[in-house]
Amino acid sequence: MRPIPVRRVPRATPAQDIPQPEWWGERETQMRDRMTAPKVRAAKGGPKIRMITAYDAPSARIVDAAGADIILVGDSLSNVVLGRETTLDVGMEEMIHHTRAVTVTKPRAFVVGDMPWISYHVTVEDTVRNAARFIREGGAGAVKLEGGRKRLPMIEAVLDAEIPVMGHLGLTPQSVHAMGGYQVQGKQVEAARELLADAQALDQAGVFAIVLEGVPDVLAELITKEISAPTIGIGAGPKCDGQVLVFHDLLGLTDGHVAKFVRQYANLTEVATDAVAAWFGDVQKGEFPSDDETYHMPDKVVRSLLSEG
Ligand code: KIV
Repeated sequence: MRPIPVRRVPRATPAQDIPQPEWWGERETQMRDRMTAPKVRAAKGGPKIRMITAYDAPSARIVDAAGADIILVGDSLSNVVLGRETTLDVGMEEMIHHTRAVTVTKPRAFVVGDMPWISYHVTVEDTVRNAARFIREGGAGAVKLEGGRKRLPMIEAVLDAEIPVMGHLGLTPQSVHAMGGYQVQGKQVEAARELLADAQALDQAGVFAIVLEGVPDVLAELITKEISAPTIGIGAGPKCDGQVLVFHDLLGLTDGHVAKFVRQYANLTEVATDAVAAWFGDVQKGEFPSDDETYHMPDKVVRSLLSEG
């Protein structure tokens, strides 16, 4: 029998050695390096996923430059930017407006728009149309919505419209009245099993990640082990696949109570108040503006202007 010829498979060229085509530019590099929903899903179990909120262009630029993987335009907009009491007080128009202000900066991070209360609770049709507005008008790459199996028909319909969905389980602030306040969820065996079942149902539906908020560490770890989508914790202990915090909490830009899980890395309220007060001081002393901070006209023009006067 004749031996079967062995086909030599050429060694793959390492990515860095592949010459870039002529048309390749900065935009193409940006597109290649951008985070996407499949990249987030594939990041499970790897280096921790870095997610943070942002609500406008300056905050989006800051978190993107700091290395965010995901920017959430959270409905916490209602509290930390618009000064309202709960997240129930923000609607679709405001959420789209702020999502646009983030995506206009073209961040490397993947931008997720947070669906506000009642935008995905009435009908499946409403839900898909509202989710689509985050993509078409807001420029986001995905939407997040709160709730478990109860919301599955909505989640499935949004996924069916090719819009990636991020789940949100545990202490879901839009349910504040139903929960009777902001309380840690899943502390008893039955409640913990329900949360696990919700996470499994969302995972099977195909969400690309799930935020776990305000749940005990052991439950968050169990859910993280049991599902294939990455978990992103906030008040859920260190074993999630990633962590998320609210921009204003981390930077000390909030007023009043901060939750136990917040670690504040700066006090920008103090820094900003001192800066503004210093400027007011300079204004009152007549030390602002200086000559360098003032526009001048040529001497010839000055002389002619003043002699005419
Ligand atoms: O709106 C928000 O900021 C959120 C995060 C707390 C996950 O939903």
